[in-house]
Amino acid sequence: MHTWTRLVAVLSVVTAINAQNLILTNDDGWAVAQIRAQNDALNAAGFNVVLSAPAENESGQDLRFNASDTRLNYVNSFPVDAVRFGIQTLAPEFFGSAPDFVVSGPNVGNNLGSGVTGSGTVGAACEAALEGIPSTAFSGDTASQVSYTTLDSSPNSQSSLAARLYSTLTVTFVQTLLASSARPVLPPGVTLNVNYPSTSGCSAAADYSWVFTRLTPNSSAVDVETCGSDHLPDETSVVDRSGCFASVTVINATTKTDVDAATQGAVLARLTGLVTCLPS
Ligand SMILES: *[C@@H]1O[C@H](CO)[C@@H](O)[C@H](O)[C@H]1NC(C)=O
Ligand SMILES: *[C@@H]1O[C@H](CO)[C@@H](O)[C@H](O)[C@H]1NC(C)=O
Ligand SMILES: *[C@@H]1O[C@H](CO)[C@@H](O)[C@H](O)[C@H]1NC(C)=O
Ligand SMILES: *[C@@H]1O[C@H](CO)[C@@H](O)[C@H](O)[C@H]1NC(C)=O
Repeated sequence: MHTWTRLVAVLSVVTAINAQNLILTNDDGWAVAQIRAQNDALNAAGFNVVLSAPAENESGQDLRFNASDTRLNYVNSFPVDAVRFGIQTLAPEFFGSAPDFVVSGPNVGNNLGSGVTGSGTVGAACEAALEGIPSTAFSGDTASQVSYTTLDSSPNSQSSLAARLYSTLTVTFVQTLLASSARPVLPPGVTLNVNYPSTSGCSAAADYSWVFTRLTPNSSAVDVETCGSDHLPDETSVVDRSGCFASVTVINATTKTDVDAATQGAVLARLTGLVTCLPS
């Protein structure tokens, strides 16, 4: 091997094994099965993960108890406070730097269209983006608020299977987004809203396709040109249609509304090879 070629080969290995530092958060609470399955899957994929999520679940149940793993943290406050604590306090402590990325979710239940304004999962992803950390909110249709202990006690329950499946899909998505070393990962001031459809009839990761979408239908808006059109499908219709389509929407982290075509295009470029067109 030529010396230069060898040097380049060594450098790319160093880059590949240089684990990316992630903060993981949600709004269902730090002890819910979905976030723990996501934590397991991201760690197994080689990411360096610190979890920082609310102490209470959405029903207000206090889930504070001691974790032996210091990378699993609860914050007795709102999701936005939990992610802020992760970024501002835990990341310097564990990573010695800002996190490379924030994963919010997967949420128990979809967060679609104008409904995202009420979502703590989307809110936490927006907060990360506004602090300059690239982020994505993930939500899944098939899920229930059950304890992480059920992942082991009932590994074949619908909740456990969905939690494992969605977490596998999330790893694929994050790996794709972070694959290029070009920075920034995402344009400033935006976050992504990803929604997974029901696992019914979509039981394997390979069954899923990813579709680039907009938040709300708007026939007068001009979107990024893709799939032979400059009108993106709206995420609700994509997640609800038959087949196994996950939606990917770029949203303004301040207004939680759709962004312009150029901003959509910058994100779409990073997802080349992952997103596909809807069948006509
Ligand atoms: C957590 O650990 C502390 C210190 O070991 C102990 O005093 C406390 O009772 C524990 N809390 C729970 C809920 O187990
Ligand atoms: C969240 O709260 C509900 C209702 O109180 C409860 O049934 C559920 O087990 C809780 N989730 C967790 C993760 O403990
Ligand atoms: C988000 O919306 C605000 C308020 O309309 C606007 O000033 C900002 O430029 C938008 N950011 C992006 C990335 O679209
Ligand atoms: C639809 O898009 C047009 C053109 O971008 C914009 O002026 C309008 O505010 C949008 N309507 C809604 C409801 O978002």
